Amino acid sequence: MSQNTLPTTAHWLSPHVQQVLRDHQPPQNEEGLFLYDLDHLEQHIKALMQQDVVKLWFAVKANPLSRVIKTLAQQGMNFDVASQGELAQVLAQGVDASRILNTGPAKSKAQLQAFLQQGVRTFVIESINQLTWLNQAATELGCQPQVLLRVQLQWPAAEKNPLGGNEITAFGLSCQAWQSIKVSDFPALNINGLHIFQWGNMLSNERLFTLWSAMISPLLELAAQVQMSLEVLDLGGGLGVDYQQAGQGLSWSRVIADLAIIKARAGVSELWLELGRYAVAEMGYYLTTVVDRKQNFNHQQLVLAGGINHLLRPAITGQPFPVTLLRPSLANLVSFHLHGPLCTSLDNLGQLAIAGDVDVGDQLVFALAGAYGFSESMPFFLCHQIAAEYVIERGTMTQVRPAVPANVYLR
Ligand SMILES: Cc1ncc(COP(=O)(O)O)c(C=O)c1O
Repeated sequence: MSQNTLPTTAHWLSPHVQQVLRDHQPPQNEEGLFLYDLDHLEQHIKALMQQDVVKLWFAVKANPLSRVIKTLAQQGMNFDVASQGELAQVLAQGVDASRILNTGPAKSKAQLQAFLQQGVRTFVIESINQLTWLNQAATELGCQPQVLLRVQLQWPAAEKNPLGGNEITAFGLSCQAWQSIKVSDFPALNINGLHIFQWGNMLSNERLFTLWSAMISPLLELAAQVQMSLEVLDLGGGLGVDYQQAGQGLSWSRVIADLAIIKARAGVSELWLELGRYAVAEMGYYLTTVVDRKQNFNHQQLVLAGGINHLLRPAITGQPFPVTLLRPSLANLVSFHLHGPLCTSLDNLGQLAIAGDVDVGDQLVFALAGAYGFSESMPFFLCHQIAAEYVIERGTMTQVRPAVPANVYLR
């Protein structure tokens, strides 16, 4: 057990969000809620959009909530969708299909046809089959969609992460595999770009720049081999947020300055990024209640009402979301092991420092939960509730989705 004398209120919890959460009167038995500060999101996206170096798309997988999509759309962001469900959700918010890009390795011919029929005209293509099917579907429909080929590169220094890193994944194809085509073989398509994205949650500007720089020459070589006039380079996502609160973080102005160099070196007229966590992680919080506290061997344990059924990411990556006690406390911080309600040892939200007087009935707030929180969870195991979702807009907290009890989804 470690102890120190730091103040117990986390720096990331603004007085306003803290107050709004403290004032929240939860409906009976609400096991966990997500809160998205749309006022913060609006300011953040406004700042990201103030440049003319890179066109920004939002990777909807990070947070598909209607109100989040609307806030981003109002700021002029475009949308990267990876399923029919995401497409329907973005269109339902009144976003024009011309602002939608389709990525993802599991595009069937039927899906490509359906996307074209719904007006989508920009595709990141990840296999020769996808290319052939889209060419057929576009011919049948009499349109000419824009296509970027997704490329997977191998580096000598092996590295692994959720996006694959240097692993061989299903995301796109090697340069060698793409070399078997010529863009002129697909006359119904305007194939004028390349897409590459292999590293997630990058926290170093230097490392990002090194990776992006190393991509240029193999990509230019590939463009020449398939006889493509390379106009667009899409570098995917991967801009990180500091889950471990280690004082690391990207400088956005440095990202933009570096991207201007990459754009010039690649000689492209457009550079694209599809931002997930860098766009929406910071505006989101997850709140749940302490159900039990115990000392088990040498572990101080807290058992929470919600765990990986609402926040799966720590189990996948080993990185916890930052946490704090919601109520004021002057107690010293103590290191606790946080467990959720599922019957698997995977249900572990990390070992984190919390005010030492935390007890049953207290509420904990997790930060950086606006991305890959609600949408990346396993809500059905053990028949617990699906978490509620709330937003803060113009200072006021309102519910968008109530907690869903198991009897609603069980058959
Ligand atoms: C194709 C694609 N683009 C963008 C993203 C967003 O990544 P990030 O959240 O790292 O910005 C993802 C995430 O998996 C992705 O698959």
